[in-house]
Amino acid sequence: MKAPAQTWQDVDALPLDKINVADPKLYQDDVWAPYFARLRREAPVHYCPESAYGPYWSVTRFKDIMHVEVNHEVYSSAAELGGIQVEDQPKAMDRPSFIRMDPPRHTQQRRVVAPVVASANLANLEGTIRERTARVLDELPRNEPFDWVDRVSIELTTMMLATLFDFPWEDRRKLTWWSDVAVANVQAPDAPVHSEDERFAELTSMAEYMGRLWAERANDPPKFDLLSMLAHGQATRDMPLREFMGTLGLLIVGGNDTTRNTMSGGLLALHRHPDQWRRLRDNPALLPSLVQETIRWQTPVIHMRRTAREDAELGGQHIRAGDKVVMWYVSGNRDEEVIDDPDGFVIDRPRPRHHLSFGSGIHRCVGDRLAELQLQILWEEILKRDLEIEVVGPPVRAYSNFLRGIKSLPVRIGT
Ligand code: HEM
Repeated sequence: MKAPAQTWQDVDALPLDKINVADPKLYQDDVWAPYFARLRREAPVHYCPESAYGPYWSVTRFKDIMHVEVNHEVYSSAAELGGIQVEDQPKAMDRPSFIRMDPPRHTQQRRVVAPVVASANLANLEGTIRERTARVLDELPRNEPFDWVDRVSIELTTMMLATLFDFPWEDRRKLTWWSDVAVANVQAPDAPVHSEDERFAELTSMAEYMGRLWAERANDPPKFDLLSMLAHGQATRDMPLREFMGTLGLLIVGGNDTTRNTMSGGLLALHRHPDQWRRLRDNPALLPSLVQETIRWQTPVIHMRRTAREDAELGGQHIRAGDKVVMWYVSGNRDEEVIDDPDGFVIDRPRPRHHLSFGSGIHRCVGDRLAELQLQILWEEILKRDLEIEVVGPPVRAYSNFLRGIKSLPVRIGT
């Protein structure tokens, strides 16, 4: 893998049509910011004629991203047209799910699962989340280094997912494994799977395991867990195998990787901005706004892709029917025209929710409130214990242009 340009000067010297922000190395090395700063300035809707994923448009400004999000009749998420990632899933292994559908099927299926993350259920879940978070924090080692990602971020989000699925507790790390498999870039040397065939085989094992639970839930009276809801939902109970794999994959990844990476990214951000740590300790009322800032700062989903159904104008460019249009949330969240000091980590912004990390429009993240609740409780419990958490080494980042993953983060807690 060739190292990308690292400095602002090197990036500014590149010919515009050679800029390929879909290169996963940019995110592994965490050097994407100058590329997007240049595109927002000089070519906010930018055409990359050649990449490993074919030609594609990049949408880099906040307002243009919003335009694409809300015009879903023009900019489609449909799996048949290519789905939601710059990289197409191989046709023979395509796994549809409602994030990769347009209305009306998208609406019908989303409606089946939405109640599990609606406010009434969140109120029921709060006590469990708090009790588990407290236990995980209390059991962390003191005065010795450990991996925050594994011991905290993965553990808490996996527990949450096991609860949402009512999944066998002792097997819950299978959910972590399937999530990692589902999102891995198979080109990365440390990927859990190294080909699409291997990925498909692992996800087939997932479907077999989940299929057994599904059959039990379908025979039992409806309950308030994701599998039972899907098994009884009119729009989801008869899904073909591939759609079953895709839908479970969506819910596992959606509820896992994103919140996990915000738990890790938030800690890293506070470590790099000790003044903001102090402000938070002095004024815990800033917690809800800290949570939003960590979600903006981390931007766990790097991009979502759409495909134009018809010719359209976007930011002064002519998009043709069939073109790939990629919304770069990492860039929209750093758009200086819309967000003051966008590269800063500021925990008392006047409009902390004004970011694109959850997307927008009909596909806006269905689990946003749950993610916020988990993050809020984590920081409340950390503050309650007055934990001094020191980051003692660099983060290891994922080779991915889709999810901004932190694979490990060494920390130490002093007594
Ligand atoms: C900080 C945490 C999270 C972030 C940043 C995040 C981000 C996103 C984004 C960017 C989208 C696509 C939005 C669009 O296309 O406009 C999305 C969709 C989705 N998310 Fe999340 N998410 C998070 C947590 C969760 C959780 C906890 C769950 C489940 C419990 C979840 C489930 C989903 C699902 C099912 C969709 C598809 C929605 C649809 O197509 O209608 N997410 N999320």
